[in-house]
Amino acid sequence: MNVHGKHYRTIWLRPGDEHVIEIIDQRALPHRFVIEKISAVAQMATAISEMHLRGAGLIGAAAGYGMYLAALAIFSDARSRTANAHLAEAATLLKSTRPTAVNLAWAVDRQLAAIARGSTAREKISIARETAALIADEDAAACRAIGEHGISLIRTISRRKKGAPVNILTHCNAGWLAFVDHGSATAPIYAAHDAGIAVHVWVDETRPRSQGAKLTAWELGQHGVPHTVIADNTGGHLMQHGMVDLCIVGTDRTTRTGDVANKIGTYLKALAARDNRVPFYVALPSSSFDWKMRDGLREIPIEERGSEEVKFADGLLVGPKGRTGRHAEVLVAPPDSPAANYGFDVTPARLVTGLITERGRCRANERAILALFPEHAGSCARR
Ligand code: MRU
Repeated sequence: MNVHGKHYRTIWLRPGDEHVIEIIDQRALPHRFVIEKISAVAQMATAISEMHLRGAGLIGAAAGYGMYLAALAIFSDARSRTANAHLAEAATLLKSTRPTAVNLAWAVDRQLAAIARGSTAREKISIARETAALIADEDAAACRAIGEHGISLIRTISRRKKGAPVNILTHCNAGWLAFVDHGSATAPIYAAHDAGIAVHVWVDETRPRSQGAKLTAWELGQHGVPHTVIADNTGGHLMQHGMVDLCIVGTDRTTRTGDVANKIGTYLKALAARDNRVPFYVALPSSSFDWKMRDGLREIPIEERGSEEVKFADGLLVGPKGRTGRHAEVLVAPPDSPAANYGFDVTPARLVTGLITERGRCRANERAILALFPEHAGSCARR
């Protein structure tokens, strides 16, 4: 993905310094482009929990690099007899940062298994570094493949509309900022745009943290994709009036039966899509499947965040002469009103038209999902 014409990923090992990971600090976007340096696992845990970086795939990649930083600190001290206990502590710390995105635990467990295979301290560090890089590379490759498998959906609609722009609604940010590159929901959109297919994206603002207005709109703009930011409640109206051809969203965790946890508000869009016969697709790399879960509503943990995210809004102050450049938070709700902040909801598989994965598209049901990923057939006891 390009930022001001330069290619970036969202996370990388600092060239020439193996002790530092660099990330794009998403809190500053869209108004400032800031790179943050991270050199300890505790700092990575804070970056994840306080959402300097966020999004399923990127959280997984950050957890992979966080475990690398932990291994580097722990195994560089050759005298440490409690190395394994410290590594387990680092794993627990990282896993506790965000409960809903399954990529987090998946990446931490993958690192623990890989590091255990090293026989010397030096080998363990080198395995941790390679595994972190592999997790990031695989994430980018999976998202690219999702684009290749999703583009035909958009192309078919474009042909039906005789080349008129295909209107796609998306929620939150399942773009390249939520992954290492390309994004999941946005990958087919970028692929279509790059292939010369006219697309237009309705971007749900996605309160309370406004990942749509701040992040999705910004990255689509950087790539030159026509888009319009809409208030969260607008999608149903647009669908009733034939102004949405297709919904594509991402997911933070999808069960083996196709129930989809995604940013709060996704379920309402899926309901509106069903009522208006608008296809509703979910794009995901296989690292976002929870192969052990069958019942998303009952089993997927839903993160609850602080009430201040709901009661406050933030952005650039605007004076009579335009933007002042000063960032500010403003209190929107009465100071004494309590607020609830559920981060995610679960869209039942029956409302999902299909899934777009790195191995192809499938229906949102266990049989179809396992036909694409047969190696996971035994990951969950049959009922
Ligand atoms: O709370 P966030 O921003 O980490 O939420 C994750 C998301 O960005 C969305 O739920 C997204 O649609 C799925 S992650 C690819």
